Amino acid sequence: MFFLVIFTFNCAAKAGLSLNVSDSCPSMCRCAPEEVIHCNRAGLRALPGEIAASTVSLNLSNNYLRILTTNTFSNLTFLHSLWLDGNNLTFLSPGTFHALSKLRELDLSRNSRLTYLHANTFRGLLNLISLDLSHCNIFEIHPLLFSHLPSLERLDLASNNMRYVPQAFSNLSSLTRLSLESNHIEAIGRDSLKALESLYDLNLRKNRIWIIQDGAFTKLLRLGVLNLGHNFISDLPNQLFDGLIQLKTLHLEANRVTAIDCTFRLLLNLRSLYLNNNQISSISDSAFSYLNKLHFLHLSKNNLSSLPLRLFVGLPKLRYVFLSHNPWKCDCRMVWFLRWTVMSRGALQGLDCAFHIHHNTTALSIPQPGDPMDCTAPPELDSKDKCGAAGISTAPGHPAPTCKVLLLVVPFHTWYFARRWVSSAALL
Ligand SMILES: *[C@@H]1O[C@H](CO)[C@@H](O)[C@H](O)[C@H]1NC(C)=O
Ligand SMILES: *[C@@H]1O[C@H](CO)[C@@H](O)[C@H](O)[C@H]1NC(C)=O
Ligand SMILES: *[C@@H]1O[C@H](CO)[C@@H](O)[C@H](O)[C@H]1NC(C)=O
Ligand SMILES: *[C@@H]1O[C@H](CO)[C@@H](O)[C@H](O)[C@H]1NC(C)=O
Ligand SMILES: *[C@@H]1O[C@H](CO)[C@@H](O)[C@H](O)[C@H]1NC(C)=O
Ligand SMILES: *[C@@H]1O[C@H](CO)[C@@H](O)[C@H](O)[C@H]1NC(C)=O
Ligand SMILES: *[C@@H]1O[C@H](CO)[C@@H](O)[C@H](O)[C@H]1NC(C)=O
Repeated sequence: MFFLVIFTFNCAAKAGLSLNVSDSCPSMCRCAPEEVIHCNRAGLRALPGEIAASTVSLNLSNNYLRILTTNTFSNLTFLHSLWLDGNNLTFLSPGTFHALSKLRELDLSRNSRLTYLHANTFRGLLNLISLDLSHCNIFEIHPLLFSHLPSLERLDLASNNMRYVPQAFSNLSSLTRLSLESNHIEAIGRDSLKALESLYDLNLRKNRIWIIQDGAFTKLLRLGVLNLGHNFISDLPNQLFDGLIQLKTLHLEANRVTAIDCTFRLLLNLRSLYLNNNQISSISDSAFSYLNKLHFLHLSKNNLSSLPLRLFVGLPKLRYVFLSHNPWKCDCRMVWFLRWTVMSRGALQGLDCAFHIHHNTTALSIPQPGDPMDCTAPPELDSKDKCGAAGISTAPGHPAPTCKVLLLVVPFHTWYFARRWVSSAALL
């Protein structure tokens, strides 16, 4: 109890030691150490006067601040971090932050009355690295708003009211993370993102995107994660993702895609592809050629009744394929998948097929011609790679599978092994 009291009156105690620190710790705030000031949830309607000029970190979260002027922070030139989230900010005067050239982190999120930001709002923030403007009501951004932020690396504009991608990104050449999640954006223009040459993570999830111009991503040579999930995309033109040579994760789930052709052919570093929750009913047999590093493929909740035989040829790293909630037609065309699970030690999840296969542990079951399990490969097996990618020298890895699918001759323990991966208990 004694220690608790000491702690609570920390600032006052220091004043007693004549360090003069208490002079600069406002009574409703906590200052520990003295240059880190916590005035969060303090019922503030204005900035307290006594904040020391030496302050490096100031937490003003969850108060009732409404208007900031050019004087508000003009003495806090040592500030590194400033939290203003969860206030009632309605207007930021041009130059509000002009003295804060050391500021690295600024949080303005959850100010629901913040709708417009003047071109000079962020003037002076030469070293700002992280800016959070999420959960406000911003619907328009001045094209020059971010041109004063040459060091900016992380920009969060999620959950605002924007209907298009602002032009304001053209000077953000250091930006690595950009979130525009949960806005109302409908289109991505060819030039909207072209200056973001350092971008690694682009989040466009939960918008209303239905048009993406070819070339929109071509300058994003460092992009590793692209999230386009939960939009209205129905078309995936073959050139759509050109340029994304470093892309590792691509989210296209919960869109309106019906067919996959050669869209993914140049994504040589792709590891995870989310195509679940669309209306895909056809996939071209070379759709995933060249995706040498693909590890996870999500195809559940689509309209697929079968997959082309060559689909997984040349995908040495593929391990997990998610297939549930599709109207699979469980005939010969799908049997080769079981062979893939055994040969590649991959896991198919949710292929709910009941293959009526004899499982005699010793005898070889030779299917008769006309038998639905006579899985002689169809002649189009040797068809040419339709998605040939210019400039790719790697041959398509493995030869096409041999014509006779050898599924029916594996011994029982191998069958058992395969069964564990194929979810359907009805396999045997
Ligand atoms: C405290 O402030 C007074 C003037 O307000 C000054 O004279 C004194 O030197 C300061 N003490 C310390 C320890 O800084
Ligand atoms: C600032 O205060 C809020 C509570 O109002 C808290 O959630 C947040 O973690 C604080 N930030 C820092 C960096 O201390
Ligand atoms: C800034 O500091 C000057 C002198 O050091 C003082 O006169 C002025 O009131 C301070 N401004 C604010 C907004 O605290
Ligand atoms: C927030 O500001 C508006 C005016 O901009 C005012 O009407 C409202 O009462 C304020 N809310 C709080 C909680 O202070
Ligand atoms: C911002 O970009 C525009 C065009 O993209 C350029 O003309 C201008 O010089 C840049 N401004 C700064 C401050 O870099
Ligand atoms: C599903 O695919 C079939 C063809 O395989 C097509 O006839 C049907 O319209 C598709 N349904 C939906 C909802 O897209
Ligand atoms: C398995 O094959 C053996 C010999 O070929 C036969 O005797 C046995 O009845 C078969 N078992 C089943 C379950 O078909």
